[in-house]
Amino acid sequence: MTRTRPTTRKALLTLHLVTSLGWLGTDLVLLTLSIAVLRGADPAVVYPVAALVGTTLFAPLSVLTWVVGVASALLTPWGLLRHRWVLVKLVITTVMVLLVLFLLTPNLRAAGDLGAALPPEDRADLVIAPAVSTSLMVVATVLSTYKPWGRLRRATPGGTRRTPASAGRGAA
Ligand code: HEM
Repeated sequence: MTRTRPTTRKALLTLHLVTSLGWLGTDLVLLTLSIAVLRGADPAVVYPVAALVGTTLFAPLSVLTWVVGVASALLTPWGLLRHRWVLVKLVITTVMVLLVLFLLTPNLRAAGDLGAALPPEDRADLVIAPAVSTSLMVVATVLSTYKPWGRLRRATPGGTRRTPASAGRGAA
């Protein structure tokens, strides 16, 4: 079982919460900006702002969330491939990071450049993408708090009785 000092584990969890929930918050900002355009806000003003938020905050945060999430799993008794809720989060987050880097970010850049000239179907895409990713992040958050579905492999016989939730997270 992975042993990490309680202070290190708390620091890692804090970093994980700041990055992942910061990512969720930034996604909501992108959703708000894209909806604002559909409701009549000036695309020549709003899309460059969305492009800035997307490239300087959202894309880097997505990579950071993935890295810190994987570290949070590998450096704690949860493990990366031991619990179904962690594995599902890994899959959801990996797919989302790839979509953010290779689909959403280029689309946001194009919207920032084109402004009012962006076609209506591309404007709708800029609402759908953050709506879907925000929903997936809410799913990831719910999985994190409820931790459903148990382990992927049996615990080793004679192993510790402490749960990953309590192990190493005690008073520092
Ligand atoms: C690569 C993807 C991810 C992995 C492998 C991962 C893994 C983990 C692990 C192992 C923990 C427990 C840490 C501990 O107890 O010290 C945790 C906690 C948590 N994660 Fe993630 N995570 C990922 C992505 C996300 C995302 C995208 C979100 C939300 C947007 C999220 C939200 C949370 C929350 C709220 C907790 C705290 C749960 C609690 O302490 O009860 N994670 N994560």
